[in-house]
Amino acid sequence: MSALTVAYAALFYVATALLAGGVAWKCWTYARTPQPLKIPVPPAPTTRGGVVLRMLAEVTLFRSLFRSSKWTWLFGWAFHAALALVLARHLRYFTEPVWSWVELIQPFGVYAGFAMLAGLAGLWARRFLVDRVRYISSPSDHLMLALLVAIAASGLAMKYVAHTDIVTLKAFFLGLMAFDWRPLPADPALLVHLALVAVLMIVFPVSKLLHAPGVFFSPTLNQVDDARERRHVAGWSARTG
Ligand code: HEM
Repeated sequence: MSALTVAYAALFYVATALLAGGVAWKCWTYARTPQPLKIPVPPAPTTRGGVVLRMLAEVTLFRSLFRSSKWTWLFGWAFHAALALVLARHLRYFTEPVWSWVELIQPFGVYAGFAMLAGLAGLWARRFLVDRVRYISSPSDHLMLALLVAIAASGLAMKYVAHTDIVTLKAFFLGLMAFDWRPLPADPALLVHLALVAVLMIVFPVSKLLHAPGVFFSPTLNQVDDARERRHVAGWSARTG
C-alpha cells in the first residue's frame, strides 16, 4: 500500500468524522437554543402542515431570496440545484450496484458541473460589484467561493482534460467504507479534487455553509403562526411558570 493511499485514507476518515460529528453537534446546539418569542415572518402558516410546506418551498425554491433579490436568487438557486445534481451523480462512486436513477442522471450531472461554476461566478461577482455586499464581505466569504470553484474546476478537469481511473477510484472508496483498503490512483487532478473536498468537509461545521442544516432551525420560518390560539411557552419558562 503506497504512502499516498494511506495518507488519503486517513484524511477521509478524519474528514468524515469531523463533518458528521461537527454537524451533529451544531444541530444539537441549534435544537436546544430557546425560542423565547413567536417570530414567524408573515404571511405565515397557522398549522404544522403549513409550516412543512413553507419550509419545503424555502429549501427547494429559495422563495424568500426570490422575493428579496432576483439576481442573487438566480445565481444562488442555479448553484445549489447544480450542486445537488452533481452530488447525486457522484453516488455512483460509493454504491455497488449503482441505483438506476443515479445512472439515469449521469449525463445531466456533467452539465450541472458547468452550471455550478456559472452560479458560483455570479455569486462571486456580486461580492465585488454590489457596493453594499462588498462592504460586508469577509475573507471567509471569498475563501468558501474559491474552494467550491476549485473543486468544480478540478472535477471538470478530470472529466475533460486529464481522465482518472474511475474503476480504481471506486474500489478505493468502497474499500474505505468496508475497512478493506485498496490503492488510490495517483493522478494530480484527482488528488487535488479529493484534497479540496476533504478541506470542505473539515471546515463545513465551522463555516457559513452550515446554513444548509441551519435553515431548518430558523424560528422565523419554522414557527406556526398560532400565538392567538396557543400560549407560546419557551423551554426555560415552562419550568418557572
Ligand atoms: C469523496 C468525494 C468525491 C469524489 C470521490 C469525487 C470524484 C470525482 C471524479 C472521479 C470526477 C470526474 C468524473 C468523470 O470523469 O466522469 C468528479 C467530477 C466532479 N466533481 Fe467530484 N468527487 C467528490 C466530491 C465532490 C464534491 C463534494 C463536489 C462539489 C462540491 C464535487 C464536484 C465535482 C464536479 C463539479 C465535477 C465535474 C462534473 C462531473 O463530472 O460530475 N465533487 N468528481
